[in-house]
Amino acid sequence: MSNKRVLSGIQPTHDSFHLGNYLGALKQWVELQENNDAFYCVVDLHALTVETDPKLLQQRTLVSAAQLIAIGINPDKSTLFVQSQVPAHNQLAWVFECITGFGEASRMTQFKDKSKKGGAERTNVGLFTYPILQAADILLYQPDFVPVGEDQRQHVELTRDIAERFNKKFDKVFNIPQAQIIKSLAKINDLQDPTAKMSKSAASMSGVIELLDSADTTMKKFKSSVTDDGKEVRFDEKEKPGISNLLTIHSALSGKSITEVENDFSGKGYGDFKTAVAEVVISALEPIAKRTNELMSDRSELTKILKSGAIKANQVASETLKAAYSAIGLIS
Ligand code: AMP
Ligand code: TRP
Repeated sequence: MSNKRVLSGIQPTHDSFHLGNYLGALKQWVELQENNDAFYCVVDLHALTVETDPKLLQQRTLVSAAQLIAIGINPDKSTLFVQSQVPAHNQLAWVFECITGFGEASRMTQFKDKSKKGGAERTNVGLFTYPILQAADILLYQPDFVPVGEDQRQHVELTRDIAERFNKKFDKVFNIPQAQIIKSLAKINDLQDPTAKMSKSAASMSGVIELLDSADTTMKKFKSSVTDDGKEVRFDEKEKPGISNLLTIHSALSGKSITEVENDFSGKGYGDFKTAVAEVVISALEPIAKRTNELMSDRSELTKILKSGAIKANQVASETLKAAYSAIGLIS
C-alpha cells in the first residue's frame, strides 16, 4: 500500500498508552506514514463522553500527542493534530446526525456496551452520537484507509453507510473509505490474566504495561506475570496462554521470529525468560518515555507542532465541509 490517504484517531482518556495500543495499532501508524499521506488525530472531543477533570483532559491530550511523536509519528511526514482544533469535525457531524437513523445509531455495539455499563444516569447524548462524530473525523479527509482495531469495524461500516447515503441523496462529495484491520497484528493480553485483552479498563494495572512506566515497574510486572504449568518456553495459546503472550511481545519488539525466541530459551526456565522479555520491552520503551518527557517539558514546542498540524488539517477539512454544505443546500 502506498500513496494513499490514511486517517486514524485515538482518545486521550488515560495518562499513558499501553503495550497493546502500541503493538496492536500505533506501530502500524508509524509504518503507514512512510509511503502514504497520513492524518492522525487525538480525539479530545470524543474523550468528553467520559467525565474528566478539565486540567487532566488537557494534560492527557498533550501527553497523548507527545507519545505519538515519541513512538515515531513524524510531524514532517504525517499531519498530527487535535480534533477540537478543527471545527469542521463538529460542523459536519451535525449534518451527518440529520441523515442517520435513530435505530441505526442505537445498534452500535460499543454504545450498547458503554451505556449498559454506565447505566442510564451516566449515559450522555454524546455517547450516542459518538460514532457520527467519528464518521465526520474520517470523511472530512477523504481517506482510502482507516487503520483501526477490530472493535472499530462497526463504526467504519457506519461511516461508509453515511458517506454512501450522502453521495446518493445529494452529490458525490465523499470518498468511501475502508477499515484496515490487520488480523496478524499482535493481540496483546493482560500479564495477570493472559486470556483477556490488555486493556486500559482492567480492574488492576498490574498486568497492563504502560508506555510511560518506569523500568523498575515494567520489570516487576513481567516478573510477576502469570505463566502456566510446565517449564518449556513454547508457543501454545491454548495450553500456555501466558508464555505465548510473552513470546508474542518479545517477537514483536525484538524482530525475531517466535521460533527463534523459543530456540533461544530452550532448556532455560520461565524466570530467565520473563526477565529477558522485560529487558526487550524496557529497551524499547525507555527511549519512548524519555522523548515523551522531553516533549512535555517544552509544551510551547509541542503546542506549536499541534497548531501547525491543525492548520494543515483545517485546509483539507474545510474544503470537504464546504462541498458538503453546498451539496445539502446551505448557502455560502
Ligand atoms: P483503545 O484502547 O480501545 O482506545 O484502543 C486504541 C487502539 O489500540 C485500537 O486500535 C485497538 O484496537 C488497539 N488495542 C487496544 N488494546 C489492544 C490489545 N490488547 N492488543 C492489541 N491491540 C489493542
Ligand atoms: N472510536 C475510536 C476508538 O475508540 C477513536 C476514534 C475517533 C477514531 N475518531 C476516529 C478512530 C477516527 C479512527 C478514525 O478507538
